[in-house]
Amino acid sequence: MTALVQRYLDGILAEHAGVSQGALANYIPELACVDPTGFGLSVSSSDGYVYESGDADVQFTMQSISKPFTYALVLNQLGQDDVDARIGVEPSGEGFNKISVDQVTNMPKNPMINAGAIVACSLVPGRSVDDRFDLVREFYSACAGRSLDFDDDVYRSERASGSRNRGIAYLLDSFGALGADPDDALDLYIRQCSLKVTSTDLARMGSTLARGGLNPLTGRQVTDAAVVRRTLSVMVTCGMYDAAGEWVSAVGMPAKSGVGGGIVAVLPGQLGIGVYSPRIDDKGNSVRGMLVCRSLSQQLGLHFLTVSSEAHAAIRGVYNPRPGVRVYEVHGDLLFAGAEQVARTATRDCAEFDTAILDVSRLHTISEPARALLAGLSDDLQALNKRGLLVDPSGSVAPATAAYDDLVFATVEDALTAAGDQRS
Ligand code: DON
Repeated sequence: MTALVQRYLDGILAEHAGVSQGALANYIPELACVDPTGFGLSVSSSDGYVYESGDADVQFTMQSISKPFTYALVLNQLGQDDVDARIGVEPSGEGFNKISVDQVTNMPKNPMINAGAIVACSLVPGRSVDDRFDLVREFYSACAGRSLDFDDDVYRSERASGSRNRGIAYLLDSFGALGADPDDALDLYIRQCSLKVTSTDLARMGSTLARGGLNPLTGRQVTDAAVVRRTLSVMVTCGMYDAAGEWVSAVGMPAKSGVGGGIVAVLPGQLGIGVYSPRIDDKGNSVRGMLVCRSLSQQLGLHFLTVSSEAHAAIRGVYNPRPGVRVYEVHGDLLFAGAEQVARTATRDCAEFDTAILDVSRLHTISEPARALLAGLSDDLQALNKRGLLVDPSGSVAPATAAYDDLVFATVEDALTAAGDQRS
């Protein structure tokens, strides 16, 4: 298995090795000094296993790939309402360095363009830029699972050449859109853009987002699932700037690019992907990075809107251990649609049994709406003059209330014994 995946990745890199379109970013002079042929790909599984191909250990600066992570950090620190009051979530349809602000509120359109990212930087808490940068670096490092280094040359180069971003910061300040001094917000922004990663770091950071904020390498919960959901949403609609629509259609993964040549892509619940190739197109996206993501998505079926039969797979097995008793075994990660399927199947077929035993002992996770639906199944069956019992040894479905004492059991055998008692 492992060798086959490795061959896939090597093959995808080889397929695009000859592509030389695009150019090094040179508006930050130091970025034009890197080897243009660098080409690396890393894929992290949701349990933290990393496959690497090509130049997966070459370090490059994050640039705009920093933006979703600082957005997640401020969501984490301030809460969504405070952040929403400062930064929008609408695609701008414009380039990353345009002053895309809402006509009425003067709020930046989204946190993935420079204007939104500078506002996000102005919201990072701390007494000084150093303090704030420590927080940012610590957060990114926690997502990557190692301490990230800083590229002082790139930082100085962007500081010296950053009139456009300085202009944006001062304009935002004149709108009252910043939460801090414009020079400080800009300085933090340039510092975060100068943090160094490899494609493997990006894959690991992506897998932390794929796991709802849990770094699968370190086991640390870096942020919570609601923050990640919001961050990934904005990556879907705005992560690739004015190429976002084409990206979602063809690749179908929340992603973020940087003019350093990196792209991070996330397949929620499944994978984190990091690609590096520093020749970029006129939208600021790595040319080969985009091609690699497209091939990966198409060859391995990674589009996040690929419709699976997950809801139908919620029921693992149905059997009648004795006349009048039917067992429904439910497994996996259960969301609303899966639970609805289970509840509807049991009530639809109730003419075929007196007692239904719902065995949820193999459930991995269950969402609250799904849990409530299954917890109410006994009542639904009772209304149809049937019994509904639950095998729920870890209490993942049944509320810990006395009302459920006679309905919940540790094993199918215990439930069968109770079903027999109830019949006699
Ligand atoms: O602000 C800038 O121009 C750079 N530090 C980052 C821009 C960037 O990476 C755009 N993305 N592809």
